Amino acid sequence: MQVATIAFDRFNTLRDDEAQERIRAARARLGNKAVLLCHHYQRADVYQHADLTGDSLKLARLASQTDAEFIVFCGVHFMAEVADIMSKPEQTAILPDLAAGCSMADMANLAKVERCWRELTEVLGRPDEIITPVTYINSAADLKAFCGEHGGIVCTSTNAPTILDWAFTQRDKVLFFPDQHLGRWTGYKKGIPLDEMVVWDPDLEYGGLTPEQIAKAKILLWKGHCSVHQMFQESHIRRWRMQHPDGFVISHPESNLDVCIHSDYVGSTEYILKTITAAPPNTHWLVGTELNLVNRLAEELKPQGKVVQFMAPTVCMCSTMQRIDPQHLAWTLENLADGNVVNAIRVPPHEAELAKVALERMLAVS
Ligand code: 13P
Ligand code: SF4
Repeated sequence: MQVATIAFDRFNTLRDDEAQERIRAARARLGNKAVLLCHHYQRADVYQHADLTGDSLKLARLASQTDAEFIVFCGVHFMAEVADIMSKPEQTAILPDLAAGCSMADMANLAKVERCWRELTEVLGRPDEIITPVTYINSAADLKAFCGEHGGIVCTSTNAPTILDWAFTQRDKVLFFPDQHLGRWTGYKKGIPLDEMVVWDPDLEYGGLTPEQIAKAKILLWKGHCSVHQMFQESHIRRWRMQHPDGFVISHPESNLDVCIHSDYVGSTEYILKTITAAPPNTHWLVGTELNLVNRLAEELKPQGKVVQFMAPTVCMCSTMQRIDPQHLAWTLENLADGNVVNAIRVPPHEAELAKVALERMLAVS
């Protein structure tokens, strides 16, 4: 029987243990009608309820494979959008707190990307024949749709090298948004000279570039970054290596180029998790990625004598993902169990169709 939607106000003041109890009770009522997908950065008090966990690529695939009526996404907004786009029409993707965005994704928007495309048209002629637009999955659905419409593609931190290869089989140049660091590191690993990877500043005319710079560039890197990963610096690695000469450094490719170059391993959150988990016991690790994941690994691997340390001296969490707390999860699940769908993420059909083209190209290539 459906009852009236419960307002979040009544959950805001719940103690954590009360919220946990209500999450468990609501899940029992929902049974297999709801599946909980959690990104690796999710806080521990929410992560413990996950049915499925992963990085962005794994979660995008899982979202297309689950049959549950409700996909409750404990991550950020763009991830729930991907779940909506990739799931079946009868399924609903839910984001427990609509304010859980991604600051990097917000650094690009359709108006600015379209302006960039117009300016590139003025300089180069027909960009559809010269440039492949590649959007990192950390972007709004309308930007994925832009890529779908213009022969472009989506990439994740796992498959960026493969996707870049594909992009260059299509056209001579790549416009990569919104993360300059992932684009630069991926291009660097392929041997593209740094002066052929130029930064496009969307707040300046022609990205702040001369026609010669645009003509010479292999990759135009959107001026965007992750506020968490920008905290990691090469000096942190240098200092740590002096104290731990036998240790290993592993970083996420959203970190800057110097950090990536000076790391022993670079890869997605799933790669980081698998690499450290599979490493021999008693090894020592410095990790350049979000704190919740690093803390979880440190705790889980302590019994094997592994020491896992966070790269930055300051605390840096994904503060937006952190908004999905037990109170929001309890509120969401209780409403769903009562028959009230709250915080559904619904990408407009035309946009979803084009975004799906770009996402399916990615899944086919990677
Ligand atoms: P992953 O795809 O590696 O999970 O990265 C997503 C992300 O937002 C990292 O900041
Ligand atoms: Fe976005 Fe950075 Fe959070 Fe990843 S860690 S979701 S890039 S703000």
